[in-house]
Amino acid sequence: MTGRRRLVVCRAEELRPGGTKLLTPGGRRRILVARLSDDEYTAVTDYCPHQGGPLSGGSMERMWVGDDYYEHRQAEDRWVLICPYHNFETDARTGCPVLRINRSRAATYPVAVEDGDVVVYV
Ligand code: FES
Repeated sequence: MTGRRRLVVCRAEELRPGGTKLLTPGGRRRILVARLSDDEYTAVTDYCPHQGGPLSGGSMERMWVGDDYYEHRQAEDRWVLICPYHNFETDARTGCPVLRINRSRAATYPVAVEDGDVVVYV
């Protein structure tokens, strides 16, 4: 990936689906890397789109979805990051807030598995 810095996060087997890992490259930027499934990872900036709380201090859970009123279940393939400050939910894949109360979103970064390493390009 040209123009971006390559950061090795960890070995792929070190992150289970639903697991997260915080990166602090250079000690300034904070990037939260998460494993969504056996073969999908995501990386978002560690700042909540609501008021900048640390997403890494919260939890990651499967998103509640429903096909009809009063029916709900946890999605197999959608995850939310829940902020510890006000429980705002951010889509872990897109960085977008689940409830659109403003136009903010958490920045996302490309992630790949290369030779068994999880790698983020920032
Ligand atoms: S700062 Fe994250 S929910 Fe308010």
